[in-house]
Amino acid sequence: MESKLEQSGTATIEGNDFPVYKGTHGNDVVDIRALTKATGKFTFDPGFTSTASCESQITFIDGNEGTLLYRGYPIEQLAENTDFIESAFLLLDGELPTKEQCAKFRHDITYHTMVHEHFIKFFDGFRRDAHPMAIMCGAVGALSAFYHDSTDINDPEARKIAVHRMIAKMPTIAAMAYKYTVGQPFVYPRNDLSYTENFMHMCFSVPAEDYKVDKVLADALDKIFILHMDHEQNASTSTVRLAGSSGANPFACIAAGIACLWGPAHGGANEAALNMLEEIGSVDRIPEYVAKAKDKDDPFRLMGFGHRVYKNYDPRAKVMQKACHEVLEATGIQDPLLDVARELEKIALEDDYFVQKKLYPNIDFYSGITLRALGFPRSMFTPLFALARTVGWIAQWREMLEDPNQKIGRPRQIYTGAAKRDFIAMDKR
Ligand code: CMC
Repeated sequence: MESKLEQSGTATIEGNDFPVYKGTHGNDVVDIRALTKATGKFTFDPGFTSTASCESQITFIDGNEGTLLYRGYPIEQLAENTDFIESAFLLLDGELPTKEQCAKFRHDITYHTMVHEHFIKFFDGFRRDAHPMAIMCGAVGALSAFYHDSTDINDPEARKIAVHRMIAKMPTIAAMAYKYTVGQPFVYPRNDLSYTENFMHMCFSVPAEDYKVDKVLADALDKIFILHMDHEQNASTSTVRLAGSSGANPFACIAAGIACLWGPAHGGANEAALNMLEEIGSVDRIPEYVAKAKDKDDPFRLMGFGHRVYKNYDPRAKVMQKACHEVLEATGIQDPLLDVARELEKIALEDDYFVQKKLYPNIDFYSGITLRALGFPRSMFTPLFALARTVGWIAQWREMLEDPNQKIGRPRQIYTGAAKRDFIAMDKR
């Protein structure tokens, strides 16, 4: 990545001037790299609410407007007009592919979807009731033990192969994690199917009968994957970058991202949102749960509501809501939870607490209902998110390595523990 940082002014802190940079969009940033040298002080920003951890040219969110751009293109336009592979090329390379580039990239990904035959044995070590995310953390980390030839992060060709392998093998691993937990045989990838069709085939086909991928459902899932591909410096992406900043290999970095994504405040929220809708169960119980969410003494939160960056409707939630309707219509499923979701959204959007705190539905609010209608158990929701986010993680990992300002990530702290003291022998304590 060629740095495009341009100074647009200065900010004075304790009498010292620091450069201010203006990005293409978004907040200006104050470059405080020299702050400690100049003032002897650190900054304090738990959760990085005011800190830009890097320069990036991949994704931009305008939280107030409710827009999400991949390489400048609005997410709604990409979800409507591209498929997973085309959007993945855009995220990785910065420009939409020509027909030839797209075909070549599709081919490169398709021909890396199989995993080493010995890798399959790795799965036997897991309990049969293991959560697929637990399997994914382990299995993806283990890729570095199988593909040594693409772990040299300083070799651009090895990096490129690692990128292709990561994107191509993720659906295979996610489908294997699923098959393992349901006790069905693993299904090998098929090169005549699209990226998403192939994933559905590996998840849902069994040797006993033919399985034909439903085009409407595959298109809806493809859209869902595009929506989840990247999202600025979120927790899991920052984890991937931090892991990568030490020079760790790409497979280890993505495994770290998967671990971070698992948490209910991040990728686990879609599973949590569906659990919550089920717990609410019927429209008449909504007021009770809205009151719980507003109660300061109750830790309950409306899952699928609120976002660190969006202070407006999450643009992905709108596309997801549409995909949800398409899937329910195509499958003919009448899901009563959709009524609960619609009513909860309506009530929360009119409630003062949610209005004032700018808490809007996020992508996870409708994704659980949609994925369930597609046939996935809820334990697979976060693995599906991980599959799609792999494109963003690996694009950000590569961008970080190519960033001339890249350094090992090493935050500071303010220490408030015990002051320096002498050891006390056990009989004197
Ligand atoms: N229900 C009720 N109150 C909420 C909620 C909610 N879902 N979200 C935030 N609040 C309140 C919170 O109690 C706080 O109130 P106060 O200022 O009185 O203390 C205020 O709103 C600000 O919340 P915060 O926790 O300081 O905000 P944050 O930016 O740290 O948290 C969040 C963002 C997504 C973790 C949070 O909104 C949340 O826990 N939401 C539910 C989980 C969820 O849906 N997560 C998926 C995020 S989208 C997927 C992704 O991109 O990874």
